[in-house]
Amino acid sequence: MQVTMKVNGNDVTREIEGRLLLVHFLRDHLGLTGTHWGCDTSNCGACAVWLDGEPVKSCTVLAAMAGGHEVRTVEALEQRGELDTIQRGFMECHGLQCGFCTPGMLMTTRALLDRCPSPSQEEIREAISGQVCRCTGYATIVRSVQWAAAEEAGTRTTLATGETP
Ligand code: FES
Ligand code: FES
Repeated sequence: MQVTMKVNGNDVTREIEGRLLLVHFLRDHLGLTGTHWGCDTSNCGACAVWLDGEPVKSCTVLAAMAGGHEVRTVEALEQRGELDTIQRGFMECHGLQCGFCTPGMLMTTRALLDRCPSPSQEEIREAISGQVCRCTGYATIVRSVQWAAAEEAGTRTTLATGETP
């Protein structure tokens, strides 16, 4: 069957098998290997992308179901050579170690900041509750999101003094 969707702003059409998962479509058919495939049980969240602006686990969506819709992957976070604030936050606050979970974390937390610019620690932890990180530990991930929120609000100097954002 043929499927057409918009991925990172570009219309793409490919011939696929009906059972193909979106994560494999992105990685194997489009070469967008930033989206990771980490489990067979829909638990790890490394595969999170946006589907029509909402984070979804792309291993739970058939590529055919994404036909006619808009997909955004981690490759689209950087714009014109500039890292997104959330990427800078993870870099500044050591929100990653091996980086395997990071694409999913970034897409989920970018979506969180878009709808909730100043999330509490609880809201951040709730947002990433469907994501597994095996090595960094969640404290620095939460701190990274707080850094990005403060940066976008123009209050990051407050964070540097050790005050709560
Ligand atoms: S690959 Fe683990 S939740 Fe999708
Ligand atoms: S940074 Fe290694 S799994 Fe999260």
